[in-house]
Amino acid sequence: MARLQLKSLVKSYGLYEAVRGIDLDIEDNEFVVFVGPSGCGKSTTLRMIAGLEHITDGEIRIADQVVNRLGPGKRDIAMVFQNYALYPHMSVRENISFCLEQQKLAKPEIASRIELAAETLHITDLLDRRPGQLSGGQRQRVAMGRAIVRNPKVFLFDEPLSNLDAKLRVQMRTEIKRLHQLLPTTTVYVTHDQIEAMTMADRVVVMNGGLIEQAGPPQELYYNPASQFVAGFIGSPSMNFVDAVLVERGEGLVVKLVDGTELAVPTDRVATFAPHVGKPVVFGIRPESISTRQLRPGFVDFNVGVDLVEPLGAATMIYFNIGSTVLCATVDPETGPRAGSAAALSFNMNRMHLFDKTSGRSLAVP
Ligand SMILES: Nc1ncnc2c1ncn2[C@@H]1O[C@H](COP(=O)(O)OP(=O)(O)OP(=O)(O)O)[C@@H](O)[C@H]1O
Ligand SMILES: [Mg+2]
Repeated sequence: MARLQLKSLVKSYGLYEAVRGIDLDIEDNEFVVFVGPSGCGKSTTLRMIAGLEHITDGEIRIADQVVNRLGPGKRDIAMVFQNYALYPHMSVRENISFCLEQQKLAKPEIASRIELAAETLHITDLLDRRPGQLSGGQRQRVAMGRAIVRNPKVFLFDEPLSNLDAKLRVQMRTEIKRLHQLLPTTTVYVTHDQIEAMTMADRVVVMNGGLIEQAGPPQELYYNPASQFVAGFIGSPSMNFVDAVLVERGEGLVVKLVDGTELAVPTDRVATFAPHVGKPVVFGIRPESISTRQLRPGFVDFNVGVDLVEPLGAATMIYFNIGSTVLCATVDPETGPRAGSAAALSFNMNRMHLFDKTSGRSLAVP
């Protein structure tokens, strides 16, 4: 049971600031996922929480206690790394019990913790094997077992699934989520996979260049991204972006795209965007907000030439151009157009986003 608080957390390597002032309050038992591109400071932040990396500035509290000067062994946390770091010469049981024996726990206590963890993770049959005799997924579960037997205040995961094949990764992420429901523990999970972040997190923290771009529940980041960076990072396939300008038309507003196409702003969104008339903006629309023509309120229809079609089974992706920008739309596979054909598409303007061209900030999110 522990709250985890990061206050103005900074990490410099010489003159280079890898983490540039992070503030975050993580609730007791909350599952927080840090996501962001390579080099944005995710692992560095995690390692500072673990006590494996010296803090340049700021403060870390675990269960209301400042831990800045506590060694990793004294922080009551358990970390699972990408490479699992299992001892190859020890059995699974020994790997899991190792740290409990170092803590000098009584033998029956150790045995019962191992039994419970093994049952929870379905590795009871594997306890006498060595890591070399296990599959990647099984090794991953042993690494988790080693972490959970310690009953830590906080779990830290650094890309624990990235060595697994795609199918196993999906399976294991469900298992980790199920495990968190079974044994609620404050958890910080690092990944660069936005789907992993969206599916697992109570709250997603998007990092960029050593800073937090936005933190919020997955749906909030998806529907109300605070910046073009978050908008482009969350969601798959990525949001389409086209340079544009906001123009008044009668009582209303239109988004005028680079190629001259005018898209009417739905009336209930006019007030939000009115202060930005005349400014260069970036128009954002997700592939799933573009459909084959269906006239509905707030939708704008127009014709495009389809360059490329990618059938995925459940949906079909089509690609087309606006000016020199390539856009993607996810459409119904039954009615989707063919490559080389003309298609009548509909943009759901209730779901469009506008970003300041210079700062990248969303014009709709204060
Ligand atoms: N020991 C170090 N000395 C100097 N620079 C470092 C050191 N460790 C990390 N960095 C730099 O700090 C930045 C953040 O690194 P970090 O490992 O936190 O990135 P990350 O977000 O975990 O990326 P990835 O997704 O690739 O794992 C990077 O630019 C990295 O090169
Ligand atoms: Mg990393």
